[in-house]
Amino acid sequence: MPAIAIIGAQWGDEGKGKATDLLGSRVDHVVKFNGGNNAGHTVVIDMPDGTSEKYALHLLPSGILSPNCTPVIGNGVVVDVEVLFQELDALSARGVDVSKLKISANAHVIPSYNKAVDKVTERFLGSRRLGTTGRGIGPTYADKMNRIGIRVQDLFDESILRKKVEGALDLKGQVLTKIYNRRAPAVDEIVEELLAYVERLAPMVCDTGLFLNQRLDDGDIVLLEAGQATLLDVDHGTYPFVTSSSCTAAGACTGSGIPPMRLDQVVGIVKAYTTRVGEGPFPTELFDDHGAHLSKVGAEFGVTTGRARRCGWYDAVIARYAARVNGVTDFVLTKLDVLTGFDQVPVCVAYDVGGVRHDEMPVNQSDFHHAVPIYEYLPGWWEDISECRTFEELPANARAYVEAVEAMSGARISVVGVGPSRAATIVRHELV
Ligand code: GDP
Ligand code: IMO
Ligand code: MG
Repeated sequence: MPAIAIIGAQWGDEGKGKATDLLGSRVDHVVKFNGGNNAGHTVVIDMPDGTSEKYALHLLPSGILSPNCTPVIGNGVVVDVEVLFQELDALSARGVDVSKLKISANAHVIPSYNKAVDKVTERFLGSRRLGTTGRGIGPTYADKMNRIGIRVQDLFDESILRKKVEGALDLKGQVLTKIYNRRAPAVDEIVEELLAYVERLAPMVCDTGLFLNQRLDDGDIVLLEAGQATLLDVDHGTYPFVTSSSCTAAGACTGSGIPPMRLDQVVGIVKAYTTRVGEGPFPTELFDDHGAHLSKVGAEFGVTTGRARRCGWYDAVIARYAARVNGVTDFVLTKLDVLTGFDQVPVCVAYDVGGVRHDEMPVNQSDFHHAVPIYEYLPGWWEDISECRTFEELPANARAYVEAVEAMSGARISVVGVGPSRAATIVRHELV
């Protein structure tokens, strides 16, 4: 039975949390396969009394809010154990059942020295900084590749854990003291920190790859929820201004242990305009009143760090690139409501780089830094569309915008978002 991946098609914050929640009642398991608590996924749940409840998920998959779903943290994730229990406790306090969570024994943990290295590296880089979330993500993935990482399973054998921490600190301790002039933590301190939650952790830990493949054999539906997005992917993103994990559809397989042939559907989440948090190139970025309008109406502030998100027009070159890299079968176009109130809505269809037209992402990073958008101007609309529930109810120009963007972006737009809540959704083609 099917495995479905949800991926971000831009630089993150496209509305993956809402999309996951939308499918939550129809899938059996939701897997986070990459990243860690650098993510911030918002889910707004309508209550029977007409109010709504808002949740911000960081380390946990958004599917934890869907009562019939088993939430899974896959092997591709990096886990800050303290944050894990803070998030679980906060959800429990709000009445969410978190008892079904499963965590891969092969996921890596984020020791506190990697949070220190992340922050101090950014300071050290000065104007060349990436604008990371400071959660220790990059250094922990670097340790994984460098084969000095600590895995969840290591926490269950203190003598092995101690040896691994000693090995890691042999290097990281020197980096902290000799390069960054910071205090290196003692081995005991780190061992104690990592063991603090081990009893609570034990019942959740298993071979999640085995579990997920067996459930697929049983006919269950597995949803793989990405953190971050295509342009932040360590291989396919705007390197070095990226995160350190594989956020794309292929990463859904390596990060979960589900083989590629079992993935039937790839749902790309794309905002009707573009945002980016942190440093790095962004061709359609706006520095004018239009950008300020998108920021204000779209409430574009990061869920994790509270930083203002940079805003710009829709970039169809990027969407096509995301469709290609991920094999997107369906797009969910989010936040169309935020585009209400413009006479014209520009859409970037190609780039001009030094007088040369680029219809695809330039392969050279400097070219991308110098890419000037070539815009097509689509007629805008002024009607409030937040109550529209069918495609036909949308004003003609909003429909034309969706159809034009669809024709440029390399896959059908199956769902359109017109507000943050689950109900504020127009389904053109059912996803599951
Ligand atoms: P994620 O990281 O991809 O899950 O996205 P975030 O949660 O960081 O950011 C998306 C924001 O947009 C959240 O505040 C959502 O509640 C909100 N949102 C999602 N879909 C829509 C939509 O269609 N319209 C509006 N106005 N807001 C939306
Ligand atoms: P969601 O899942 C937007 C950005 C950071 C920084 C870069 C590297 O909510 O879409 P890191 O701490 O990962 O090493 O930072 O990646 N970044 C995100 N931007 N949404 C996210 O997650 C992000 N996670 C990381 O701002 O530019
Ligand atoms: Mg987010």
